[in-house]
Amino acid sequence: MDDLKRYCLDTLVRAVHDRHHGWRVPVISTVSARGPQGRCVILRGVQRDPLLLEFFTDRRSGKVVDLVADCRMQWTFWNPKAQEQLRVWSEVEMLLEGTVVDQAWSRVPAYAWRDYATATSGTAEVDMAQARSNFVLGRALVTGVEFLRLSRDGHVTLEF
Ligand SMILES: Cc1cc2nc3c(=O)[nH]c(=O)nc-3n(C[C@H](O)[C@H](O)[C@H](O)COP(=O)(O)O)c2cc1C
Repeated sequence: MDDLKRYCLDTLVRAVHDRHHGWRVPVISTVSARGPQGRCVILRGVQRDPLLLEFFTDRRSGKVVDLVADCRMQWTFWNPKAQEQLRVWSEVEMLLEGTVVDQAWSRVPAYAWRDYATATSGTAEVDMAQARSNFVLGRALVTGVEFLRLSRDGHVTLEF
């Protein structure tokens, strides 16, 4: 495997576990009725062969509405320290049930359950079962990657 490709994959894996890594919070863009829609998410998982990227979301969110209509999604990662951008094209499946989703849900800390519950601001109790039912594991099958490193000595690019 090309060294630069391996570097890109290793860096994605690292970003999942390194809270301070620029690539941990990519912008994901979907195709909506209003045109392109981008927003930040946290990169939650990376698998190789085939290359899969994962994120967590709420089934009531706009991005899920978009992805039901058109599963294509683009990721834009930027690491200012390294001056490295990664653009990733993908097709997303949204998983609501099964062992893999249960495992993902078990990684959501209790303080974040509220994000997935019906809006109950001001009340202390969060209905955990309801929060779980809104939780979606987004799994993106990567269809293309473009890497760009800005450098005064000449930009470095790679597509795979
Ligand atoms: C730093 C940051 C991290 C975020 N992480 C997530 C995330 O992992 N999943 C998610 O659904 N929304 C996340 N959000 C919120 C989204 O950016 C967005 O506002 C929300 O999901 C609603 O977008 P939508 O209506 O287009 O789906 C995050 C926002 C910020 C600023």
